[in-house]
Amino acid sequence: MSAPLPFEAAIPRRPLAVMAALPQELGDLVAAMRAEGGIETVTHGKRDYHVGTVHGAPCVVTLARVGKVAAAATASALIHAFDVEAVVFTGVAGGVGPTVRIGDIVVAESLMQHDMDASPLFPRFEVPLLGMSRFDADAPLTTALAAACEHFIDEEGAALSQRFLTEALPTVHRGLIISGDQFVASATSVDLLRAALPDALAVEMEGAAIAQVCYEYGVPCAIVRTISDTADAHAPVSFVSFLTEIAGTYSSGILRRFLAARG
Ligand code: ADE
Repeated sequence: MSAPLPFEAAIPRRPLAVMAALPQELGDLVAAMRAEGGIETVTHGKRDYHVGTVHGAPCVVTLARVGKVAAAATASALIHAFDVEAVVFTGVAGGVGPTVRIGDIVVAESLMQHDMDASPLFPRFEVPLLGMSRFDADAPLTTALAAACEHFIDEEGAALSQRFLTEALPTVHRGLIISGDQFVASATSVDLLRAALPDALAVEMEGAAIAQVCYEYGVPCAIVRTISDTADAHAPVSFVSFLTEIAGTYSSGILRRFLAARG
């Protein structure tokens, strides 16, 4: 292995992008950045980008808002205007996999758009002219994020279970997350998704768009989702109470461990 070049120390590290759709899904991240020192907020394309250091890691933190277009536009801005090294997305999702329960965590290994359908011109789910339907998350980043989730559950899982009045500790799953411009909230809709994509673990509204943009620009990405509901008729109520009462605790706990390990 060659010795480090003398000028390497002077080259500033490119920041990591940390994004979520809604403010509750970012937890205490912006407050932690503010507490850690200089924070610069840049407004660009109707979004605020907070630039600074969190838990020792240089970051750009922002809210995408909801849906695939919002997520893709934000990921593109993070890459082009802020030159981020990688993109990490945190938030909640509906559970789809048979063993995925409310309070569990799903870390994406791959992502796809469940509402992409240009058939019969192209196979269902395939992104036309890209020839792909599934986009992989970056393996090393995903492993680090899953490790942060495991540490979080080891250290705070028992307290979380007590808060939900459940006996079992939350589980960390890894696999397919599916995204679409719909809040899925009926047994019929979630059954159709399960039938079409039997390995899907969770459904949300942004992840696959971010994964596609990152793939197209060669930027690593990782996505973590806490399960707020099971995408059935109870989903709207479960989603709102989970989002307002619990989602921030998960994001703060996971991101603190993930960023401190990088920092
Ligand atoms: N995010 C959280 N729950 C969801 C659901 N049921 N459908 C789509 N996105 C979600």
